[in-house]
Amino acid sequence: MMATEPLLEKNSPIGNRDRESEIDFQRKKQTIHQRIVGSLDITSTDEMQTPEFQQELRGFVELFDDEVELTADEIDRMLTELPWEMFGNGPLEPLLADPEVSDILVNRAHEVFVERNGVMEPSDVVFADDAHLMRVIQRMATRVGRRIDESCPLVDARLEDGSRINAIIAPLALDGSKLSIRRFGKRHTSLEHLVANETLSQPMADFLRAAVAARQSILISGGTGSGKTTMLNALSSCIPHNQRIITIEDSAELILQHPHVARLETRPSNSEGLGEYSQRDLVKNSLRMRPDRIIVGEVRGAEALDMLQAMNTGHEGSLTTIHANDTVDAISRLELMVAMTGLELPLSVVRSYICSGISLVVHLVREQGGARRVKRISELNRTPDGLEFRHAFSLKRTGVDSAGRSQVEFVIGQRPCCIDSFSEFGVDYDPSVFEPASLSEDDQ
Ligand SMILES: Nc1ncnc2c1ncn2[C@@H]1O[C@H](COP(=O)(O)OP(=O)(O)OP(=O)(O)O)[C@@H](O)[C@H]1O
Ligand SMILES: [Mg+2]
Repeated sequence: MMATEPLLEKNSPIGNRDRESEIDFQRKKQTIHQRIVGSLDITSTDEMQTPEFQQELRGFVELFDDEVELTADEIDRMLTELPWEMFGNGPLEPLLADPEVSDILVNRAHEVFVERNGVMEPSDVVFADDAHLMRVIQRMATRVGRRIDESCPLVDARLEDGSRINAIIAPLALDGSKLSIRRFGKRHTSLEHLVANETLSQPMADFLRAAVAARQSILISGGTGSGKTTMLNALSSCIPHNQRIITIEDSAELILQHPHVARLETRPSNSEGLGEYSQRDLVKNSLRMRPDRIIVGEVRGAEALDMLQAMNTGHEGSLTTIHANDTVDAISRLELMVAMTGLELPLSVVRSYICSGISLVVHLVREQGGARRVKRISELNRTPDGLEFRHAFSLKRTGVDSAGRSQVEFVIGQRPCCIDSFSEFGVDYDPSVFEPASLSEDDQ
């Protein structure tokens, strides 16, 4: 198979650094790093801050100066960056320290992209070569107790700061190792924040807050990176504090602002193919942990059935996300997941199960330009022939601004029936937003 051409030309200037000289610098750093490994007598990053260590390091760097020919600037950079190679994440450190960077995507040693404020852009960060990139990947995996090598060439894990990493290497990855980092850890996004950045409107947030408090089970749907997990996080903070939450995730990334949370994470099988604990195992187990609400990070398979069972039997108000293109697609996928359990239930039974389990579907989209928006909040209702949606809120495009970004407005639609039960849960909600302006059929 022919290797694809790198997207970033080797000598293209990126940011304010020349790519070729940056690669050269990384190579020099690797040379020095290899030489000094084992020579420096320190065991932690704290010790690196001491003037004695800095002096010792400078001594080493100057010792190799003749061999690798460093400029004064490069010597200074070496002193800062060598510790990143020894204890940190190598050239990725500045990106990991930048609060504006939400995703870091390494396609190969000389090709790194970052997403800032929803917009993907090439970065001037490079690795010396694939071996250098592999060392950083291996360090990240080992630090969280995972391994990655030819016999186990992919790893999906969570870093100490809550970020999620996925690494995939040869033979599965072509043209170099790949690393994807989704950063979460430091920021908690509230519904207020999502209203402020126009992900949804205030009336939508008010309705969702009341619905969560009133134990409506909610399915959050959307495409890759549309903001499902972020929305799940924000909604879970509306769960009353006297209720116990169990979270179940493949690689934990939720940071719930709640006093009573038990977090569970799946475990992949070991090298002998044993010891796997799936989301399904954890959902079943969570029922014995006296949960008030169960939150599954993302339903992907057979656990959908157990989750629906839980929602139908006393764990109403549970929340989950699903990868789907629209609201209808979300339900079809859920049906498929139930079918994957091997239980041969008639479709009508599965549908009525879904309807009595799930009350609302919140569908998110990622817009051109990076904004995330709630496209629809729909209520799921059972009908004699299956199910139907009542769209309570919808996103309407009103035009395009001079920068090519779409202009939107959130319109209020049909009044959801579940509002009638809010008072049973002691939830005070003013439904008057729904009365005056109802959506016409065209707007739906
Ligand atoms: N409402 C939002 N406004 C702006 N940025 C957002 C919003 N929601 C999420 N993001 C950013 O988009 C990225 C993806 O968010 P998130 O992980 O919540 O999406 P997701 O749909 O769960 O993704 P995946 O499909 O990978 O599970 C994150 O970097 C996050 O910071
Ligand atoms: Mg997600």
